[in-house]
Order: sequence, then C-alpha cells, then structure tokens
Amino acid sequence: MSNSKGKKKQETISARNRNHASYHEHTTKTVEANEKLYRYLVQLSPNPLFIHSEGKFKFLNEAAVAFFGAKKAEDIMGKLVIDFVHPDYHKQLLRRMKATFEEKRTLPLVEYKMLTLDGKEKTVEIASNPFTYQGKPAAQGTIIDVTKHKKKEEFLRIQRETLAIKIKLEEEKLRTEFIADAMHEIRTPLAIIRGNVDLALGFGKNRKLKSPKIALRAISYEVEHLSRLLRDLTMLTSRGGEFEWENLTDTVDLSKLLEEGVKRTQVLARKMNISVRIPKKIPSLSIKGDKAYMEKLILNLIKNAITYNKKDGWVKVGGSKIGDKAVLTMEDNGIGISEYDLPHIFERFYRAEKMRDPEGKRTGLGLAISKWITEIHGGTIHVISTLGKGSTFTVFLPLLK
Ligand SMILES: Nc1ncnc2c1ncn2[C@@H]1O[C@H](COP(=O)(O)OP(=O)(O)O)[C@@H](O)[C@H]1O
Ligand SMILES: [Mg+2]
Repeated sequence: MSNSKGKKKQETISARNRNHASYHEHTTKTVEANEKLYRYLVQLSPNPLFIHSEGKFKFLNEAAVAFFGAKKAEDIMGKLVIDFVHPDYHKQLLRRMKATFEEKRTLPLVEYKMLTLDGKEKTVEIASNPFTYQGKPAAQGTIIDVTKHKKKEEFLRIQRETLAIKIKLEEEKLRTEFIADAMHEIRTPLAIIRGNVDLALGFGKNRKLKSPKIALRAISYEVEHLSRLLRDLTMLTSRGGEFEWENLTDTVDLSKLLEEGVKRTQVLARKMNISVRIPKKIPSLSIKGDKAYMEKLILNLIKNAITYNKKDGWVKVGGSKIGDKAVLTMEDNGIGISEYDLPHIFERFYRAEKMRDPEGKRTGLGLAISKWITEIHGGTIHVISTLGKGSTFTVFLPLLK
C-alpha cells in the first residue's frame, strides 16, 4: 500500500518536472480517446502545430497551414516533411526523427530553416514530442517563427560591422591628418636649415655675413628642435597601438612619481627662479599603469608649469584621492592661458604664443602626449586657467581596487 503511495508520489514529482512532456502525454491520451477534440483544441493554438508520422504530414492546425503558405491543410497533408526543410538541416531532421520515434523522447527547441509552398525561407524553432496518431507512432511539432527576430539580429550585425568600418576609416583619417601635421612640423625647420646651410656655404661671397656662426647657430637651434619633435612623435606613435591598459598587470605608486618629478625638475626651476613645492606627505596612490608613461605625464605637466611661469613664480604639485580616483594637480601662478587658446592646448602641435621659444624646445606635443597617456590609462585630464594669473592641470586616474 505504502509502496504504491510512494510510487504515485514519485510519479507526481517527475510529472511536475517534465511539465512539458506530461502535457503531451496527456494530449496523447486525449487523442487516443478523441482525436476530434484534440484537433479542435489544437486549432486554437496561435502557434503552428503539425503531426507527422512515417515522414509525412498527417495533421496541421490553421496557423501551420498559414505558416506553410498553403490555403488548406489538404495542400500539405501527405507530403514529405523533409521537402519543407532546408537541405542544410536534413541531417538534423533525420537525427531528431529517429530520437522521437525510437527513443520516444521529447526534444528541446531547435533551430531550423523551413521552406514554404510559396518558396519562402523561414527561420524557426521547433519542439518535437512523441505522439500516437491514428494508432501509429507519430510526432507533434510546434513551430515558433523567429524569422523576424533573425532579421533583426542580422540587421544589428550589419549595423555593428558598418560601425566598425566607420571607426576604421575615422582612425585612418586621423592617422593621415597626423602624418600631414607631422610633415608640416618637420618641413619648417628643414627649410630654415637649408636656407642657413646655403648662407653658411656662401660665406665669403656674401660680404655682409662676417662669420658663418649666425647661420650655424640657427641650424643648431632647428636641429635641436627636430630631435625633440622626433622624440615626441615616437612617443605618440610607437607603443601606442599595442598598449592595452585592461591587460596590464604593472602597478605604480603615483605619490612616489610625483616626489621624483619634483626632484628632477629642481634644476630647471632654479634656473628660472621658480619654486616647486609638494606637500611632505602624499597618500599612497596605487594605480594600474605603465611607469615610464606616468613619469612622462607628470614631468610634462610640471615642466610646463615651470616653463610658462613668471619670475619668482611658484608651482604646487599635489596628489590625493577622491572616491575611487587618484587625483594629481599641478598648479602654477604663471602666465596663464587665454580663453582663445584654452580649448586647443591639448591638440597636437598647438602652441599658444608661438613667438616665445628661445631654445627651440616647444613642439606643442607635450599636452597631446599627456592627454593620450591619461586616456589609455582610463583617466581624464582637465585644465583651469586665467590669463596672467596661472593655471591648474588636474589628472584623474582610476585607483587600484
Ligand atoms: N602651465 C601652463 N601655463 C600656461 N600655458 C601653458 C601651460 N601648459 C601649457 N601651456 C600652453 O599650452 C601649449 C601646449 O603645451 P604643450 O603641449 O606642452 O606644448 P609645448 O610645451 O611643447 O609648447 C603651450 O605652448 C603653452 O602655450
Ligand atoms: Mg610642454
């Protein structure tokens, strides 16, 4: 007694677990009892449903008739199921038919391409259940039409590809512009060098030129400038392509680099009578980053703050934490930047006040490089400046978690 009770309980559980299958088991019984009632019920289903046995269609509900592009069920009844399936899916169909008929298994949804009477291809998902129809082993197929969904997927895929191409073209355009800019920057000093070489070589013929020294000095200036330019350009173009911050495992402590940066710029600062200050204690600011790049970023900003300063001016270097960001600041009370120049200073080759460059040191690439370094490290760089009063550059970088 208790045994049969236990068995019953087990059956209930497994029936509950196989909800879907049990529904069809139930349907099967109904069919055996009254196939007419089954057909009536199935007609109500908005999903296309069909029964096939011995490889042929035996029954289709109205939704299935419409799905196959037929006028009435008789147009399809008796026809081979395989003829309505795209050849690419024939193997799968045969495999699944075998499983349904021989193993009497309910098969999960699977994708098919179906062919309709009016020659359309439709992407569908089909669930198959073993069945008995008119006393013979059969299977009931439930069709879910996903053609529209697939079309949308395809559309999205094309959209993604188009976007990727657009980005590539944009990158290509930027590269071309970059090369054009660089050429321009190199051409000017070269022209000056050529002119001065001619001048120096013509020495003697030109009575006015007492010594070639002036020409040589001009050449030396331009050569110095070209070397700097090429060094900066190399920085902007070399490792950039391969740099993947996400995959980087190196960590750097920015507070150390700030302290070092201040030390390394002391000579330059003293020469210009500028004091560079940094608080005694800066919190440790560990980030995931490339040390050489971070050094370059910090030095660029401190050097700018010293270079674009006034006699007896000061520079304050700082480091702190705001939320999950490391914050670096370089503040100066120097010449400041005009409203006109401010939006452009991070652009390559941009120099405000082009006249003041006694040593040929300015390439206009320092801030472009600084911005680039910041951004490949997942950070942002900002500037606040008032002409004649001074500037503050702030860099935010994600702290290590
Ligand atoms: N701290 C600063 N104060 C005033 N002007 C600055 C400062 N930093 C940068 N600039 C301006 O921005 C321009 C671009 O800077 P940068 O890219 O470092 O190029 P470079 O220093 O080679 O000219 C500079 O030419 C200068 O006019
Ligand atoms: Mg600079």
